Amino acid sequence: MKVLKTKVLKIDINNLEKQKIEQGAEILKRGGTVAFPTETVYGLGANALDEKAISKIFKAKGRPQDNPLIVHIAEIEQLYDIVEEVPQRALDLIERFWPGPLTIIFKKNSKVPDRITGGLSTVAIRMPNHPIALKLIKEANLPIAAPSANTSGRPSPTDASHVIEDLTGKIDMIIDGGATGIGVESTVLDLSTEIPTILRPGGVTKEDLLTIFPKVEFDPALELKNKNIIPKSPGQKYRHYSPEAEMIIVTGEIHNMIEKINELTSEYQKEGKKVGIIATNQTKDKYNNENLIVVGDRRKLETISRNLFKTLREFDKIGVDIIIAEGVTEEGLGKAIMNRMNKAAGGRVIKIN
Ligand code: TXA
Ligand code: MG
Repeated sequence: MKVLKTKVLKIDINNLEKQKIEQGAEILKRGGTVAFPTETVYGLGANALDEKAISKIFKAKGRPQDNPLIVHIAEIEQLYDIVEEVPQRALDLIERFWPGPLTIIFKKNSKVPDRITGGLSTVAIRMPNHPIALKLIKEANLPIAAPSANTSGRPSPTDASHVIEDLTGKIDMIIDGGATGIGVESTVLDLSTEIPTILRPGGVTKEDLLTIFPKVEFDPALELKNKNIIPKSPGQKYRHYSPEAEMIIVTGEIHNMIEKINELTSEYQKEGKKVGIIATNQTKDKYNNENLIVVGDRRKLETISRNLFKTLREFDKIGVDIIIAEGVTEEGLGKAIMNRMNKAAGGRVIKIN
């Protein structure tokens, strides 16, 4: 693969220098690739209407061809330009949650290349809530396809340094706008069913959506035990967010969970394995293990979502053999956190009461 010269451009979100945004937009208009921050994770952007540009995204990430991309827009007119119709239910959502971490599935029109949608007749669209992303998309004046800016399979990038780690030499530009806020990707919502269906849990929670709709469901394929169900969101079938080490999650009543993690830690250590523990503010003093990272606060799930992917990458750097992670509640943002943890662990969860 040809090695590209990847330019890293720092932009201060409190002082969006026009000339820097223009540099990024120029590359996008020319059919190049630019990684940029959003409020969820960093995205790897290219012109969504240009097949050749989109191919560069798949190549740089090593992404399976059938895994469709999310199209990012900055203005509502851009939506009408690329979809068949905007149903009333979508309008209600847009009014409430855009810009923000909600991706909605629409019927695509013929302007959207099959390369984006993996051959599906639908297209996933969102308006990110981040000043750099919005300004860049506006300046390029194009819909921008952007998956998370990581090598396929690795934890999503929540800081420019993660993008630099994965994609240097493979893309044209990385805009460094500091750490992202939410830390897990957007919620993907399907409105083609009678009851709106969450294909991927994310920054907008089921509880948030229930303030608009009387009923909301999770795609049954989200449960790893339902392996024979084909997920509607093709990305959900791949192993994801994976640290290099093996990972195992322990959930349950907090004292029992701690006891189980300590027990497992000694067992693995006896086997000569280097163990890493993902702990929380509430539990960090309860473990006797050198490699422990506090991912956040159990009472503030947004601190855990913000730090989760970074924590997985940190354990890769330390080089542990096994990561034992505390589970969290499946309510609210906890659903998205547990979905990502589950995938990183390949479904290995120990539930205790
Ligand atoms: O927060 C986010 O959504 C980030 C930032 C960069 O915006 N983007 C992101 O993109 O996570 P990506 O490509 O890593 O994940 C896109 C997800 C995949 O699970 C994919 O299968 C699903 O959206 N998806 C895309 N188009 C779809 C469609 N037409 N129908 C169903 N699922 C779709
Ligand atoms: Mg991704």
